[in-house]
Order: sequence, then C-alpha cells, then structure tokens
Amino acid sequence: MQRNIINRIVELTGVEYPIFQGPMTWVSDSGLTAAASNAGCLGVLSTGNMPPEVFREEIHKTRDLTDKPFGVNLVLLSPGFEERLDIVFQEKPEIVSFGAGNPSKYIAPLKDMGMIVIPVVPSVALAVRAQRAGADALIAEGQEAGGHIGSTSTLPMIPQIVDSIDIPVVAAGGIADGRGIAACFALGAEGVQLGTRFIVAEECHAHDNYKEAVIGANDRATAVTGTSINAPVRALRNKLTRRFYELEFQGASLEEIETLAIGKLREAVMTGDTDTGSVMMGQCAGLIKKKQTVNEIVEELISEADDAFKRMGALSFNDGLMINSQKNLKKYA
Ligand SMILES: Cc1cc2nc3c(=O)[nH]c(=O)nc-3n(C[C@H](O)[C@H](O)[C@H](O)COP(=O)(O)O)c2cc1C
Repeated sequence: MQRNIINRIVELTGVEYPIFQGPMTWVSDSGLTAAASNAGCLGVLSTGNMPPEVFREEIHKTRDLTDKPFGVNLVLLSPGFEERLDIVFQEKPEIVSFGAGNPSKYIAPLKDMGMIVIPVVPSVALAVRAQRAGADALIAEGQEAGGHIGSTSTLPMIPQIVDSIDIPVVAAGGIADGRGIAACFALGAEGVQLGTRFIVAEECHAHDNYKEAVIGANDRATAVTGTSINAPVRALRNKLTRRFYELEFQGASLEEIETLAIGKLREAVMTGDTDTGSVMMGQCAGLIKKKQTVNEIVEELISEADDAFKRMGALSFNDGLMINSQKNLKKYA
C-alpha cells in the first residue's frame, strides 16, 4: 500500500496498522496474538502469571502461527517476573511491553540485545522517566481501561504526555471503535491499543460467558475496586466487586483484599464464572455489540476511523460547522 504520511509506530514495529491488541492476562494467548498480527496489527502476548516454560512455549506457538511482528508483555509486579524476564532475554521477541510498574532499569539491557521496548504508563511523570531510560515508544493508558489502571483519563492524559516527550505515544483505555481511534489521533497519539474489544474475538479463548458479559455491558457496567490499597482494578460490577467494596469500606488490610483477588480473573476467563470471578473489562464495553473474527474487527475499526477522519477533515469552525450530534454528522456528511 502506498502511504503518504510517516507514522512512527508503523515504522518502529513494522505493522501495517498502528493498532495494538492489548495484552490481557489469561485472555491473550498465542492464538489471539497471532490472529491480531496476521490482521496487520501488533498482537501482544500476555504472560501474566504464566510459569516460565509455558511462556516460552507460547512464544514458540505464536512464531509458528505468524511470520508478522508481535510483542510480549511482562507485568512487573506479578510473582515470577524475574524468571519470565530471563525467558525474554533468551527468546528475544522483537517487541517487549511492560505493565504495572516502572521498568526503567530493564530498558537498556533489552535494547542492547536488539529488542524494541514499549512500556505502559498511566501518567506524565512515568512517561518522562521511561523516555529518559530509553523507551522506544509508550503506551499511555487511561483509567477507562479494563484491568489494572491508573487514575487519569485518556482524554486529558494523552495530549499532556504527547507534549512532555518526543517518542511516539500509543493511546489505550476506552477505545473500542474507529471514532475512538480518530479521537486519539486528534489528541496526538500515533497508535492505539485496544483490549476489551478483542475479548469478544472468535480467536480469543475466553469463556463464552465472559464474551457475553462484555456484549451485555452498558456504559456504567464496570466498577473500580482496590483504590484503598492503591491497586485499582476495573471489572464488571458483580458479587465479587461488591465483596471488595465491603472489605475496603471496613478498612481491610492489603493482604485480605489481595487474598480475595487470587485466581479470580482466571475463574472468569477459564470457567466462565461471571458472578464471583473478576470479569475485567473497560468502560468501552458498552460499544461492543457482537462477536467477530479478528479480521472483521480490524476491518471495521479501519473503515470507521477513515470515515471519522474524512468527516472531521470536512469540518471547520471557521465555516460555522460544529458537530454536536450523530444526526448533524449525517446531515453534513
Ligand atoms: C482482562 C484484561 C487483562 C489485562 N491484562 C493486562 C496485562 O497482563 N498487562 C498489561 O500491560 N495490560 C493488561 N490489560 C490492559 C490491556 O492491555 C489494555 O491496555 C486495555 O484493555 C485497554 O483498555 P480497553 O480495555 O478500554 O480497551 C488487561 C486488560 C484486560 C481487560
């Protein structure tokens, strides 16, 4: 495809579209990762709490399923992180992303071995630190996202991070369709990362109950627990989140709250327990209406984003046109 504009995320990672499939513990295995990469995006393998040798096998399986670039994600605060980091040094995937924590000290050694390092950051302060430590790009994730989150929202955070650093920014949190993608590019992002939207992909092995929970969710379906212990998590409001709130309200200790969380995401993903499992999903779940293949999702995202770019390109305040509703958009399309 002939391209006129240079996109630094496309150049850096070698993908066709600057869209990352967000790594999701227990959810994004080799199957989903390879499907996303084969569709022209960057598939990102999650490692969560995976035993190191399973992680190594998953890297090999992904390589068998795609010859396109893909990434692996390490969660800094999860037990066994060092062992999984060793596997990364041995296997040398092209791209490494880091979630939950400050990866500064690992960036130079990974880059010295030829890997591209893209940490996830929830704030300007961590973005500046990661750039200083040599990160190639950043994923800036707002609190609308599913899973472990920070406290700032995508809309105000992206432009503040873009203004504070020089390396390219991938926006994450709250994006489930092409309008969200276009909005993030308007804010200065050069790529986007979507998690929740890919949960309902046919190639995603998550239990059908989990997928139906995403499809059934509305704009207010999620809750954030763990704020009192400085470990906020966004998931579907259910019996489990109510129990978390009770404990937090009673002033329970870090240990008590952490104990309640153990194994709960796995329960939801693998056994489909959406009542007492942790059904992590973002606020954008309300935009997700059906199961689709990864290819269908990506084609829809691209075509919707292109429509949004065209509409926005046709509008200007100087011409007296202001978008205030979908109806108006259609009227002036
Ligand atoms: C079930 C689930 C598990 C996740 N696990 C991880 C993880 O292991 N590492 C990580 O960096 N991000 C993780 N995330 C965040 C996603 O990679 C992505 O950034 C986020 O879902 C984007 O927001 P969205 O859900 O609004 O699309 C997870 C998200 C979900 C929904």
